[in-house]
Amino acid sequence: MKTVLLVHAHPDPHSLTAQMVRAARAELRAQGHEVIQSDLYAMGWNAVYDEHDFPDRQDRERLSFVDESGHAFSTGTQPDDVRAEQAKLMAADAVVFQFPLWWFGMPAIMKGWIERVYAFGLAYGYQGAGNRHRYGEGGLAGKRALLSVTTGGPAADYGPRGINGQLDELLFPITHGVLFYPGMDVLPTYAVHGTSRIDAEGVERAKAGLAARMRTLFTDAPIPYRTQNGGDFPDRHVLADDVAPGVTGLRAHLR
Ligand SMILES: Cc1cc2nc3c(=O)[nH]c(=O)nc-3n(C[C@H](O)[C@H](O)[C@H](O)COP(=O)(O)O)c2cc1C
Repeated sequence: MKTVLLVHAHPDPHSLTAQMVRAARAELRAQGHEVIQSDLYAMGWNAVYDEHDFPDRQDRERLSFVDESGHAFSTGTQPDDVRAEQAKLMAADAVVFQFPLWWFGMPAIMKGWIERVYAFGLAYGYQGAGNRHRYGEGGLAGKRALLSVTTGGPAADYGPRGINGQLDELLFPITHGVLFYPGMDVLPTYAVHGTSRIDAEGVERAKAGLAARMRTLFTDAPIPYRTQNGGDFPDRHVLADDVAPGVTGLRAHLR
């Protein structure tokens, strides 16, 4: 049995997003997994990172969220709502983010969950070692992550030459920057397109597709991003000249 955290953002409990969450939860439970949820609108999540979240210098030095055996803890300087979410995140073997694409990214409330929950020592500055542990290792290593996204626009708009840009590239700041950075294994995104014209049959297909992905959540191969410390980035900043020579931009990040 594994523990799966579903983080989701939609104000309407009848939305496609809400239906997708219920389908994912039912399938995960049917598989015998424990499901925990962060229903951000229902929780009234405060999405604004402010002075209460920002530790002063002394706190920053005291903060340490992961002990030597890998167990997370908080030293008490974080707001209670943040600590509660950090505990859920650390308890999870996998995290599924379900959201509608809003202006080419995640809804602001979910971005604010990342900004506030991803504290120093947990998601960055791991073990007080600056940038030593990132991209493939860090405070969230060993966990799996999946984005499950719905888009109003049709699949063609998000294809390799689509007018909106390829979905994987639009989501790169999340898959690579938010999820792979602190060490998670990021699975290929599950996307449902054309939701502005979706019919009842389409909704059922969308839910069944997500349920299928829940069945392979712990066996699917992650996106083969290059790790910082695997040899491709000798100075931890720039790809070695002999790695993917001539390839630039986002494609260069794939092994
Ligand atoms: C504020 C807002 C921004 C949106 N931006 C996009 C967008 O950038 N691309 C797109 O394809 N659809 C966009 N949409 C449409 C949503 O993706 C669509 O409504 C959603 O996938 C449907 O699922 P739901 O019933 O859970 O809302 C947007 C909708 C809203 C409300």
